[in-house]
Amino acid sequence: MLDWRDAELKGVVMRSFSYTHAITRQPPASAIHGLRAVDTGAPDLARMRAHHADYIAALKSTGATVVELPALEAFPDSLFVEDTALCLPEGAVVMRPGAPSRLGEAAEMAPHLRALYADVRAVTGAENFIEAGDILTTETEILVGRSARSNAGGIAELAGIVADWGYGLREVHTPPGVLHFKTDCSLLDADTILATERLSASGCFKGYRVIHTAAGEEASANAIRFNDLVLFPAGFPQTRDALVAAGYRVQEIGNSECAKLDGGMSCLSLRFTPCG
Ligand code: GLY
Repeated sequence: MLDWRDAELKGVVMRSFSYTHAITRQPPASAIHGLRAVDTGAPDLARMRAHHADYIAALKSTGATVVELPALEAFPDSLFVEDTALCLPEGAVVMRPGAPSRLGEAAEMAPHLRALYADVRAVTGAENFIEAGDILTTETEILVGRSARSNAGGIAELAGIVADWGYGLREVHTPPGVLHFKTDCSLLDADTILATERLSASGCFKGYRVIHTAAGEEASANAIRFNDLVLFPAGFPQTRDALVAAGYRVQEIGNSECAKLDGGMSCLSLRFTPCG
């Protein structure tokens, strides 16, 4: 069996977390009206923008090029660019968001992907919906959680597209009441996943090494491995310490304002290495 950590140590490039590029979008003033499951108050825009700047600086610190798109006032949730596309080395797939107020965000992203990729496809079925917050790409497969935002039709259409590029897709389930699959999990390396116990209890990570979020720190499950860094939401010390003890280079980023809109580290960027 391939030892991924050994391969990583030997300098093998891991396509699931080694990236040359990221795309972000500035938080609009309208973000105070962003979607949320529970209203805990409007986000503080100045603090949100300061956290966003820290996030971009962390991505850039790994040597990546970050395409920083301007705010889109017509779309309050448009800072959460991840939901608009799935980016793979072979090509990009424009999503079809299941939240009606977010549907137009995908078309806004498409030209920026076409500028970087030769092959850009799209989920187009009128009844098909999928948001990339429900997609976890590992070194060996693509997991997609069926959720209130991603339905069977959207997942099936995506499976057909990525099959052309040689990827297997496995449908799993986002826990009830949880916004996206990746609200509750993150890839840490080729075979290690950070996850809440409620998600891993479903058995969807069989074959992977799982590090659980500490009790009471479930909201820290949405982190990102980006090159040699793990960008991790500030305020979850037990889980942070567990990741550091496991050998990861962790950088904490403030997420208090995006959290009010159910957003986290993965939501704020598209991460990729285009080769098409
Ligand atoms: N506020 C992020 C979302 O609900 O899509």
